[in-house]
Amino acid sequence: MKLVYYGDPILRATASEVTTFDKALRETARRMSELMVKHKGVGLAAPQVGLDMRLIVLRFPPHEMVNPTIIERSKKTVLDEEGCLSIPGVVAHVKRAYRVFVSYYDLKGSAHTLTMYARSARVLQHEEDHLDGVLFIDHLPHARRMLLKSKLARISEGVV
Ligand code: CO
Repeated sequence: MKLVYYGDPILRATASEVTTFDKALRETARRMSELMVKHKGVGLAAPQVGLDMRLIVLRFPPHEMVNPTIIERSKKTVLDEEGCLSIPGVVAHVKRAYRVFVSYYDLKGSAHTLTMYARSARVLQHEEDHLDGVLFIDHLPHARRMLLKSKLARISEGVV
């Protein structure tokens, strides 16, 4: 299992729903968690390792979420710094909802809901975006994105 980087088309695709909750799914989640820790990430989505499935892992608190759906976002937002393992060397301030109410399935297929706040809500929103082909840089003002253009081009060309 390896990270894929900005420029890989899977990062722009809508990931498929998980329908089979088997041993292979649990093994995939376990390997993703290991990779996240190894790269000092706080979250990782399956498309970031080249997999077309709606699966994310979070580090604080540790969570594996299958088919996560954000049901409600608070009106209150927070501007804070974000990065992404798929876009190395790029950090930027992104506005995110302070609180989210999310539904998801665990690795055994049981349904859950959870309210997340602040930093963990931010990571959840970032990872859930990945499942719809959205990257954190998409949330930046146009001028800020333009400044990143050459850096992003270099990552696309494999200079990471
Ligand atoms: Co990311």
